Amino acid sequence: MKFYMPVKLYQEENCVRNHAAEIASLGTRAVIITGGSSSRKNGSLSDVETVLEGSGIPFTLFDSVEQNPSTDTVMKIRDQALDFGADFCIGVGGGSSLDAAKAAALMIKNRDRNIDYLYEKGNPADIVPVIEVPTTCGTGSEVTAVSVLTNHRTNTKGSIPYKIFPALGLADPRYLRSLPLSVLRNTAVDALAHLWESLINAQADRYSDMTAEAGLKAWALNRDILSGEVRASDKDFSNLMTASVLGGMSIAQVGTSIPHGLSYALTLNAGIPHGRACGFFEAGYLSHADKELCNRALSLAGFKDLDDWREFYSEVSDQLTVDDDLLCRAVDELPESKMALAPYKCDKKILSEIARDLSR
Ligand SMILES: [Fe+2]
Repeated sequence: MKFYMPVKLYQEENCVRNHAAEIASLGTRAVIITGGSSSRKNGSLSDVETVLEGSGIPFTLFDSVEQNPSTDTVMKIRDQALDFGADFCIGVGGGSSLDAAKAAALMIKNRDRNIDYLYEKGNPADIVPVIEVPTTCGTGSEVTAVSVLTNHRTNTKGSIPYKIFPALGLADPRYLRSLPLSVLRNTAVDALAHLWESLINAQADRYSDMTAEAGLKAWALNRDILSGEVRASDKDFSNLMTASVLGGMSIAQVGTSIPHGLSYALTLNAGIPHGRACGFFEAGYLSHADKELCNRALSLAGFKDLDDWREFYSEVSDQLTVDDDLLCRAVDELPESKMALAPYKCDKKILSEIARDLSR
């Protein structure tokens, strides 16, 4: 067994401002990487800017990372960062900004390499330091080595073959306060998918089970919040963030499995948000697992049985349905590596059943 999580992580209110000295110790000129306006609205960006200004660290801001960030965006960030002379990256936002920051850190360090370098297998991840400030409660990217990018040349979405752990993760649950319910739901379902796919995983061991089970217990406390029946308190936001971070720590050990692998086609071709797309396949994935393990996964997350989860998912996904042609495509395009992480024998027939569980 092994457990490798080389990220210094703080989860607390005000953690960006509380740890200004550690942020400043990681470089002399920063590139902040974020998307849209949400990091402005939730206060995370101004916290980072205030800390850098207070520490006398000049910075440049790249604030147009799109959902499902592309390799082209990573190269634009690299160009801006090199023009400015940045020597460290700070990702602020949801998974897209955090993943883009990791890939940018690789390309800034390897300044003479072109876009193809992102996919060159076998190279160690030689990077400039990365700090990640999550503002959603699903990705876990602040504690994983994974960067998922969309490649428009090949029309594919997937992880690049580098392990890029951030140096520092700063998870402040206050940033979740301004999330719309739909984003809270989508990202929390992503966290749940990470936890379930870690628990039900061919690589799972007692260490990864430890983080996955603790994460599922934290997740279970938020069901009423996600149903929209109860307004979230700061304690609830803290639980949601905890579940997300523990989900990240779990997949950092064992990797995600079939639902994540199937989800990419839904996001790429139908624009279905990542967490919602993963959630679509969870019932099918759980239903083929060992019965005892399936029941444990469900009860840790606060569900009576599979139908209880199916009903909950249908509610929080606004009764998502997926066209059968797209499901076929998702099955055909599933990476072998994801299938290998299912802890049960999985052929085309089983895959098809997993993909269509909610369509029956
Ligand atoms: Fe995910």
